[in-house]
Amino acid sequence: MDDLRQKYLSAIANAADEAAIEEVRVNALGKKGEISLRMRELGGMSAEERMTAGPALNALKDEINSALAARKAGLADAALDARLRGEWLDVTLPGRNRRQGTIHPISQVTEEVTAIFADMGFAVAEGPQIDSDWYNFDALNIPGHHPARAEMDTFYMHRAPGDNRPPHVLRTHTSPVQIRTMEAQGAPIRIIAPGRVYRADYDQTHTPMFHQVEGLAIDKDISMANLKWCLEEFVKAYFEVDNVDLRFRASHFPFTEPSAEVDIRCSWEDGTLKVGEGDSWLEILGSGMVHPKVLQNAGVDPTQWQGFAFGMGIDRIAMLKYGIPDLRAFFDSDLRWLRHYGFASLDVPTLHGGLSR
Ligand code: DAH
Repeated sequence: MDDLRQKYLSAIANAADEAAIEEVRVNALGKKGEISLRMRELGGMSAEERMTAGPALNALKDEINSALAARKAGLADAALDARLRGEWLDVTLPGRNRRQGTIHPISQVTEEVTAIFADMGFAVAEGPQIDSDWYNFDALNIPGHHPARAEMDTFYMHRAPGDNRPPHVLRTHTSPVQIRTMEAQGAPIRIIAPGRVYRADYDQTHTPMFHQVEGLAIDKDISMANLKWCLEEFVKAYFEVDNVDLRFRASHFPFTEPSAEVDIRCSWEDGTLKVGEGDSWLEILGSGMVHPKVLQNAGVDPTQWQGFAFGMGIDRIAMLKYGIPDLRAFFDSDLRWLRHYGFASLDVPTLHGGLSR
């Protein structure tokens, strides 16, 4: 017993790291460890032998266990000491001047649009980017055969063969958020819904992912006049000019009746755009009075409620305001471009503090 004791206590004292301690533990007290084997032999002893050997073995086991724990703690303390000695830091050194990140123009413009409409009482609503074709099309009065489905170059989600659930799409516009919000909140409603949308298209003015902001106002007595006022207020605030000329052009969307596309008066001089003057017109959004069938599809009674909706391209109005010529650059993650067109991260756009300064 003394030999065993001597052997393992000195092995523990000599163990130089955790792995060595563990090895000693396994050799002595593991399943096949020397002391464990001895304890198993107790069964074959006479009662008398067992009476002395049993307690002695148990005491030895306890002693070795505490020696192991003590050695372990001692090693950990020593390691911490060494680390503290090695990793000291001179807190009196001057800070390093790191380059600051910038806010992407899309985020900036989304915040600007949100601030302007918030001021007119619009809350922000959201919906999923992967949506069923019911929300993206049917509920918006775009039936299966409608050309708008083909025109939108829709991305359909893959379905396993035999999966008969209704198809899901990457939403092609933010208009499905109209349906989801009406379903969730009922009327009255005053929301905007900014977010990502997707279409299979790629050139200087189209990217497969881009951004829209939807607007929806539902109440008892809302008319085109309210739509026109809201949009005029928006455009003045957004482009930070006192006067704008808006042109409402008769148009067609399945989800609005009547429908209008809205152009702003502008001029192009030396490749720079000025809003509010000149002889050019630039289309910035689609809009109209929400179609009764759309209200009905979303569980809002069209004999009680009516309202307007609009959908605007965020990337488009960002390009216009900040003179960004190529849409694709928005999504290239080119640091030089981001530093040039990005916004300071602490300048939150507000109407009182200034939108873009
Ligand atoms: N969803 C349309 C599009 O992506 C834009 C639009 C037009 C939205 C008219 C509307 C609306 O809410 O009333 O082209």
